Amino acid sequence: MNPVKTAHALDLVRRGRRLRRTSGIRSYVRETRLSADQFLYPLFVTTGTGVRREVPSMPGVFQLSVDEAVRETEAARAEGVPGVLLFGLPAKKDDVGSAAYDSDAPVQSAVRAIKRSSPDTVVVTDVCLCEYTSHGHCGILEGHDVANDVTVDQLVRAAVSHATAGADIVAPSDMMDGRVGAIRKALDERGFEAVAIMSYAAKYSSAFYGPFRDAAGSAPQFGDRRTHQMDPANSEEALREVEQDIEEGADIVLVKPAMSYLDIVRRVKDTFGYPTAAYQVSGEYAMIKAAAERGWIDEPRIMMESLTSIARAGADIIITYYAREAARRLAGR
Ligand code: PBG
Repeated sequence: MNPVKTAHALDLVRRGRRLRRTSGIRSYVRETRLSADQFLYPLFVTTGTGVRREVPSMPGVFQLSVDEAVRETEAARAEGVPGVLLFGLPAKKDDVGSAAYDSDAPVQSAVRAIKRSSPDTVVVTDVCLCEYTSHGHCGILEGHDVANDVTVDQLVRAAVSHATAGADIVAPSDMMDGRVGAIRKALDERGFEAVAIMSYAAKYSSAFYGPFRDAAGSAPQFGDRRTHQMDPANSEEALREVEQDIEEGADIVLVKPAMSYLDIVRRVKDTFGYPTAAYQVSGEYAMIKAAAERGWIDEPRIMMESLTSIARAGADIIITYYAREAARRLAGR
């Protein structure tokens, strides 16, 4: 029997408000439960010791030296966040991004230090060249174009070097074709078959990454990333990208940014039923922070609402600069 019809036939008003009356009732019928163990916390690791340099366009986010990254990770763990996603700010850049696979670079050092201090922290590393190239592009340039296959070779070296340092998951964020398969093969050949791949499968060419490029010093010196990152207008293409990465061996697929792409998160989750991550990127964070600083919005509530909507769209893993703050709030702290 269709309850809607029944109510109608009896000339009753459907009173949805009955289930919204008290917080106890609301919690019984709540469909999405946000939890700190969904959060993955991005950190920017730099050289030196005792460095904690706030990123101007991302209040509350810091470039951290390895020792500080360890402390930040321990604090996040104590608040219930299971893992960190590491980005590196190398001492030196060159035109092929060779610091990306330097075993003593900030990311590799941080992986080892974090694994020493808290072995069960999930350590995920960003695999891309844009933080390591002098020109700020995601790969090796041929003229003004990022050359795909030689870039993939570099990404493979970076991923292997992260795995060697002890990373649990490598996360290629470059959007080169064929990199997931190449990384999987190289990891397996070297005995790293237990290291997982979280691929930025549907990564859009987005203006929401602006503040990140400040934080990571990775703004391209000319042009943009439209020849490899996806057109914001497309969603069928996102499914093809995700399918290809799964076929090549991705264990987790990622959609990025989050808030403007929640339809993509939902389609990816429904279509593939695969572990799915969504990245609430720097611009999303910065917008909330900036409006909150002006007193225009209620930051804690917007933070929780935006994270809840990402979970509701189907994300299993939520990458967010708010990981610690949101975890504290969920714990009532
Ligand atoms: C590439 C990378 C970027 C981000 C994560 N990985 C920047 C880009 O593609 O330009 C952006 C994350 C954010 O904006 O928070 N290494």
